[in-house]
Amino acid sequence: MHADIVVLPGDGIGPEVTTAAVDVLQAVAQRFGHRFSLHEHLIGGAAIDATGKPLPDDTLAAARDADAVLLGAVGGPKWSDPNASVRPEQGLLAIRKALGVYANLRPTKPHPAAMGASPIKPHLLAGVDLLVVRELTGGIYFGERTRTAESASDLCTYTVPEIERVVRRACLLARGRRGHVTSVDKANVLETSRLWRDVASRIARDEFPDIVIEHQLVDSMAMHLLSKPRAYDVIVTENMFGDILTDEASMLAGSLGLLPSASLGEGCVGMYEPIHGSAPDIAGKGIANPYGTILSAALLLRYSLGLSQEAACIEQAVDDALDAGVFTADLASDGTAVSTREAAAAVLARIAAPAQIAG
Ligand code: NAD
Ligand code: IPM
Ligand code: MN
Repeated sequence: MHADIVVLPGDGIGPEVTTAAVDVLQAVAQRFGHRFSLHEHLIGGAAIDATGKPLPDDTLAAARDADAVLLGAVGGPKWSDPNASVRPEQGLLAIRKALGVYANLRPTKPHPAAMGASPIKPHLLAGVDLLVVRELTGGIYFGERTRTAESASDLCTYTVPEIERVVRRACLLARGRRGHVTSVDKANVLETSRLWRDVASRIARDEFPDIVIEHQLVDSMAMHLLSKPRAYDVIVTENMFGDILTDEASMLAGSLGLLPSASLGEGCVGMYEPIHGSAPDIAGKGIANPYGTILSAALLLRYSLGLSQEAACIEQAVDDALDAGVFTADLASDGTAVSTREAAAAVLARIAAPAQIAG
């Protein structure tokens, strides 16, 4: 197959981890006889520096025309002045909204070899396999904002259709898994959450009688996620709760650098990105963990290109590299850390010749 993939490296470690994922995509193309045309465009701080805008028009146009989009990360101290008129993160929010990718899938399945890097006890991690479906184009991220010298406000709004479509997506995904959905809200305080709970209950009852749905308040969810993570299958929640809970969930896997994501809509181009940010504290050092971005490339193959065998090949290669103890500094504790490039090379070798790499 031939596919056009837009690559948006962004800022900080973004270019380091997308380079690794692009190499992996090319290796998959070579092994399976596909042709992936990869086109790089600007987003975030890099785009502000070059054009004054965090999402230049040609970047959005290219993304709309592509078969899929792979993004690194945006942001950094250079553009973080609280009074700056334009910010890298605006580019990311704008492209999510413009593409209509309302459902952000963030899977977490701790790998046995990396569990030592998790602060959670191993017996709690065994068998954990959860999927957070984060609403991505609504809520407080996109409400009206005001700021005066004396006050500031961010408005949180959800409409019924916005909640219906993301809950429906979560229930459909649960059907292919263990059939359990936990809807997370703050219905004891927030009006948007009371609407969320009403709509989620109705969708599950009327359209998914085969799915078990339960509701959980976000504060206690943050606790249960660490104390009984095995209890969860699909978790569906609003934009900001999903952002926070998934960084927390990354600690089950052992590092923020391990978690991939897929941002999907209906009949639109999908966007794929690790859940981490631009990591300014380690940017430029060549030590970032590339696995989250490489696994995002696997999700791209599965969801946007329908190449499930190729996606599984990447996931197996990352699993095997972890089994072999190929850890970047975020995972290694004993002076055995490899660089971003070495970790990527370990995955590439396993894609090129899977049977020949032992241990
Ligand atoms: P961050 O995710 O960039 O980093 C948090 C911590 O995790 C840091 O110590 C970092 O070194 C570590 N880390 C993150 N990814 C890693 C990786 N792949 N390998 C090893 N270690 C990794 O979060 P932050 O520091 O709160 O934010 C920094 C900037 O990134 C901000 O400007 C923020 O807006 C932006 N950000 C962007 C995205 C995105 O583009 N999707 C996501 C989150 C944050
Ligand atoms: C993420 C990031 C973004 C978000 C920021 C950078 C806008 O934290 O992708 O998780 O909050 O969605
Ligand atoms: Mn985040």
